[in-house]
Amino acid sequence: MSTTGVQEAIIEAATGARNCALAQYSKFCVGAALEAEDGAIYTGCNIESSAYELTMCAERVTIWKALSEGARKFTRIAVVADTERLTPPCGACRQIIWEFCGDIPVILANLRGDTETLQMAFLLPRPFDADFLDEIGDEK
Ligand code: THU
Repeated sequence: MSTTGVQEAIIEAATGARNCALAQYSKFCVGAALEAEDGAIYTGCNIESSAYELTMCAERVTIWKALSEGARKFTRIAVVADTERLTPPCGACRQIIWEFCGDIPVILANLRGDTETLQMAFLLPRPFDADFLDEIGDEK
């Protein structure tokens, strides 16, 4: 499969997942698809709670699904929403993508076929990660 074909497949997977979005409050439906090192694709959608702050974004649902099924290394993630300006991951999702997927490409797409790929290091410059936890001294 060509690079474009591979990209289309992951966008298609994210678009399909978007159809399952539980976005009854915002009406803002999002789908995500995450490709693992072995080629497996995990998908997820946003799930909103009546206690609004418990809402979970499509990206994190997808990452939790993949991790809980044993996947550990990831090659790229796609995010699909129905916006003219392509929807990027929120701040919380950027942190989680960085922590569990590293500097992967993030493919943004909408329903009219626009796409853009941005690298995680661009979306989350100077990130906080587990390395900092090793830097604290022993004294309390
Ligand atoms: N949302 C996502 O699922 N991913 C994003 O990248 C942006 C926002 C969801 C959260 C909430 O359900 C709705 O979109 C509106 O913020």
